[in-house]
Amino acid sequence: MRPGDPDIVFQSYGRCCNRDTFFVDFYDCFMAKSEAIRQVFKKTDMSNQRHLLRNGIMQLVLHARGLPDTKLKALGESHSRRGYNIQPHHYSDWLDALLQTLEKHDPYFCPDTRAAWIRAITPGIEKIKNAY
Ligand code: HEM
Repeated sequence: MRPGDPDIVFQSYGRCCNRDTFFVDFYDCFMAKSEAIRQVFKKTDMSNQRHLLRNGIMQLVLHARGLPDTKLKALGESHSRRGYNIQPHHYSDWLDALLQTLEKHDPYFCPDTRAAWIRAITPGIEKIKNAY
């Protein structure tokens, strides 16, 4: 991660996360990736899930800013084989869907913003994924 990344990402997320359609579009995009992903959310109340994700992405961003990883550890546990049993290979589709949705909603999105997002949140995503 580079020194300016957390600020770039924080501002980019600020331009996106106040629109409900951002989270609607994220899940449309994520679920379009595979039948397996659609199956995982078959019984989920998606309107509640969209609210929870707003905070989940914020946790990844705050982790990049150096906040302790207590919340990410809890997400790692809930997504692990002891919880929702989310296979680790789904996380690359998750990141792809996030980047596609950011590109759609952030008017200032550019290759540098994209790279900053990837560098900033990959460590947090790895934490959740590696708890599997
Ligand atoms: C629930 C965030 C990746 C499937 C949640 C919740 C949050 C969250 C905040 C609600 C809190 C909880 O139940 O622990 C994230 C973040 C991810 C991620 C930040 C990426 C790093 C994934 C992936 C999948 C997935 C890749 C599946 C392909 C689920 C399911 C639930 C859930 C099934 C529970 C839904 C329900 O209650 O019915 N996630 N998630 N998540 N997530 Fe994720």
